Amino acid sequence: MKNILFVASECVPFIKTGGLADVVGSLPRYFDKKKYDVRVIIPKYTAIQEQYKEQMDYVDHFYMDLAWRKQYVGIFKMEMNGVTFYFLDNEFYFSGMLPYGEIYQDIEKFAFFDKAALSCLPMIGFRPDIIHCHDWQTGLVPVYLQDSFQQNEFYRGIKTIMTIHNLKFQGIWDKKTVMDTTGLDAYYFTPDKLEAYGDANYLKGGLVYADQITTVSDTYAEEIKMPFYGEGLDGLINAKSGCLTGIVNGLDYDEWDPAKDQMIDFNYDARTFRKEKIKNKKALQKELGLSEDEKKFMIGVVSRLTDQKGFDLIDYVIEEICAEDTQLVVLGTGEEKYEHLFRHFAWKYPDRVSANIFYSNERSHKIYASCDAFLMPSLFEPCGLSQLMSLRYGTVPIVRETGGLKDTVEPYNEFEDKGTGFSFMNYNAHEMLGCIRYAKDVYYNHKREWNKIIDRGMAMDFSWGNSAKKYEELYDRI
Ligand code: ADP
Ligand code: GLC
Repeated sequence: MKNILFVASECVPFIKTGGLADVVGSLPRYFDKKKYDVRVIIPKYTAIQEQYKEQMDYVDHFYMDLAWRKQYVGIFKMEMNGVTFYFLDNEFYFSGMLPYGEIYQDIEKFAFFDKAALSCLPMIGFRPDIIHCHDWQTGLVPVYLQDSFQQNEFYRGIKTIMTIHNLKFQGIWDKKTVMDTTGLDAYYFTPDKLEAYGDANYLKGGLVYADQITTVSDTYAEEIKMPFYGEGLDGLINAKSGCLTGIVNGLDYDEWDPAKDQMIDFNYDARTFRKEKIKNKKALQKELGLSEDEKKFMIGVVSRLTDQKGFDLIDYVIEEICAEDTQLVVLGTGEEKYEHLFRHFAWKYPDRVSANIFYSNERSHKIYASCDAFLMPSLFEPCGLSQLMSLRYGTVPIVRETGGLKDTVEPYNEFEDKGTGFSFMNYNAHEMLGCIRYAKDVYYNHKREWNKIIDRGMAMDFSWGNSAKKYEELYDRI
């Protein structure tokens, strides 16, 4: 039996801002329970819903040194779907409506969390063989582990894996402050360790000290070796390419299943979508106050509204996208300029544009179930889960060929009867528009072809099975 500990800053159903939470919340369920005991540790944010907090059991508490500070660490525990979750409590760090705040706060928050996650292990009676860290927020785990923890027998021999979900976010702050915050020695703050371009960098620390590195698709694993996608760390990624693996994300097929989904109005599957899916579209049109026309081509967007997701391309040609024969339904929050953009077009074209500028899991399920196509023209995309959700719900993805989008959406080829979606290569608004128009033409004028694209998409298997196996192989190899 191998003990594995996931350390992460978000996890469904407790707290979520993006796909990271989906992965951390679902992947642990899909390991072979006879061979791997996989547990998860996250912060006990005030923002976690009461219903979950009520189910947590208090385990223990202690006081931990963080440089010159002495901080309270409470440990809570809960079991869900056969997985044990631990929650670290400290209301000074983890209060507020959102898991993340200003970066200077987060820098201290996650130094605390990383050190506390290691420190609590003897108390919870779980000695991991491998600690599996996710994104910059957990970058200091491998660093601390190499540091003072080595004096304690309990920690010697524990291996670490660092998974990059998004290289854009690295946890960067000035060296002096980080030294003061973390209590780490000046020894660590050189360009071969935590320092990058004069500042301290949490993710870099994690990448330097982890035994293995993974990222969430094969293509992204290659892309980040190049300056364009490397976010300043491509040199390091190249140097460590021998221990870098790309493992594509899966989807929780229990939660995301149009045949059983409780949040959508009409259930359907690969056999019945031709008749049933359209009923969801009509229901959503009614709910959102769009013109009720089941034939109209409906494009969905569910996303963080940031530059990463390609919204400047949409901005550039939105007038053309919102043509009379199209409806656009957007769900997301993020940069103000994009929030305003969609609000404005919803005001201008109330019958065909719906701007839902908030976060709602239920609304997202309805959009995946109702739309004909799903637009995701990302500038870069480590994996992307939204396109997997779309494929599962018979909603045809329109994507840019980058990262996980390239690995999971096969472009439609009308001559060979192939493909599960539409894609374009260059980061160019008119290339995207051409692609949308092509999709629309197939939808309106070649309906049988369109339905065959859906057939092929719904037949794809992006459940966790295969990818969980790849993580198991990595755990065995390490
Ligand atoms: P990223 O992690 O980069 O944001 P992913 O495609 O991996 O992108 O995952 C995004 C996840 O967040 C999906 O599950 C998507 O449905 C969800 N999501 C994004 N914005 C919202 C929103 N406003 N309301 C509900 N779910 C959202
Ligand atoms: C990040 C990436 C996204 C990926 C998710 C889960 O948020 O932006 O592409 O799907 O992590 O790995």
